[in-house]
Amino acid sequence: MEQDVVRRGRLTGERSGEMMHFLSSMGADRCIADADILVDIAHVLMLSRQKIIEKDQAGMILSALLELYDNGIPEGAFDDRFEDIHAGIETLLIATIGEEAGGRLHIGRSRNDEVATCLRLRVREDIVRQLSILIRLRETLLILAKEHIDSVMPGFTHLQHAQPTTLAHHLLAHEAAFGRDFQRIAGALSRVDQCPLGAAAFASTSYPIQREFVAELLGFQGVLENTMDAVSSRDFALELLSSLAIMMTHASRVCEELVVWSSGFARFVELDDAFCSTSSIMPQKKNPDTAEVMRAKAGSVLGSATAAFAIGKALPLSYNRDLQELNPHLWRGIRDAKQSTRLLVDMLSSATFNTAAMAEEAGRGYSTATEVADMLVQSHGFAFRTAHTLVGKAIQKGGLDLPTLDRAAEEMGLAPLSKMGVTGNDIAAALDVQACIDRRRAKGSPSPFAVKISLSSRNAILAEDSRILQERMSHYAEAIRRLISDARKEAGE
Ligand code: ARG
Repeated sequence: MEQDVVRRGRLTGERSGEMMHFLSSMGADRCIADADILVDIAHVLMLSRQKIIEKDQAGMILSALLELYDNGIPEGAFDDRFEDIHAGIETLLIATIGEEAGGRLHIGRSRNDEVATCLRLRVREDIVRQLSILIRLRETLLILAKEHIDSVMPGFTHLQHAQPTTLAHHLLAHEAAFGRDFQRIAGALSRVDQCPLGAAAFASTSYPIQREFVAELLGFQGVLENTMDAVSSRDFALELLSSLAIMMTHASRVCEELVVWSSGFARFVELDDAFCSTSSIMPQKKNPDTAEVMRAKAGSVLGSATAAFAIGKALPLSYNRDLQELNPHLWRGIRDAKQSTRLLVDMLSSATFNTAAMAEEAGRGYSTATEVADMLVQSHGFAFRTAHTLVGKAIQKGGLDLPTLDRAAEEMGLAPLSKMGVTGNDIAAALDVQACIDRRRAKGSPSPFAVKISLSSRNAILAEDSRILQERMSHYAEAIRRLISDARKEAGE
């Protein structure tokens, strides 16, 4: 393979393998190799249209690029001796079709705008994939929620039994969080989806280029206007990694619950064997390892985001090679988040919820005590704080039966409840788990009545999100299809 065509003029001397490997971004550039071909094609089409290069030269370059598009980039282009995939492909191209034509590919651009465009093109694809997974994840949660509208379970605060709720209500809480993740990541997409090409090194070029045309060919929503900003900004990566870290924080909370819920203490859920491991010594063990690794991945994604921030901070304008070091963290964060959420869909949809165990626990730990206090407020004119103190004291004395409540009242200098017309039946009715849930009918509450309303609005929002995503996806697919067909025409194929 030839010498790197970028280095050969200004620099002389051999470099050690270690040196080349240190400087090369080849490893991470595998993620943008396909995008680079598309960016090259769009650039050449523009150069030809603007008559910056001759038609037959454009045709030759495009034929060579289409060959790479159709049959893949040969391994030789990924050699570490090249500083990056851009140098690798250009060198390969010149070796294939000669410098007279191939040497014109890089007219009016720099690797700085080239790499920024490739990154945005690839990230755009990754975002669309992540959004599709989020749609499936939310759909899975909504389907499960629909099945468990009447599955009563304990709700927790501080991981202590707090008040009864339903599994549907609990799952809807997770779905709401993933819904916001969808919005955040979709918002990031609109800022990623801007084309930097034509910025060249940072000050653009004096060739009569057409930046909007290239952007349109690649399906971008627009052009990243300021050319210095175009080559040096990576806030799109920071924004995406931050959003993914938040999304993974949400995923880790689901995982944590699956770990706790599948323990022998709770037995709320049985995970499918496929998502579990056993012990090398304890033959009885079934461990929720997938949920544990996924819980840890939230830390890894946050780490990727943190690394990217640390690399990007305090860099003077415009391009600095430091930016190259950010990319592996971007790809790793994207990959970890994508794998985790994809597996989470399957882990959840294959799980079996033990509704009997949940129902058994729902009333434990005086979880309906608030209802007794509320009953005293609503039917007997108590101030809430007084009722709260009274019920708390009765629990401290051993129970929520009428005699114990009366003793608590006496200690507080109040009339006994039995004298005020409170009956054992009133207390039993207040303590009833199902009744306690059914009474909670305000928007977003756990009662089946309120959950059904939530379910229908969440399903409508999901359908709309899904429609918008489909529209974006077909726009991108159509742009790339047209780009390739234009290239084939121009190449005379
Ligand atoms: N490999 C480089 C990167 O990922 C491409 C841009 C190189 N530009 C330069 N001036 N050396 O950032």
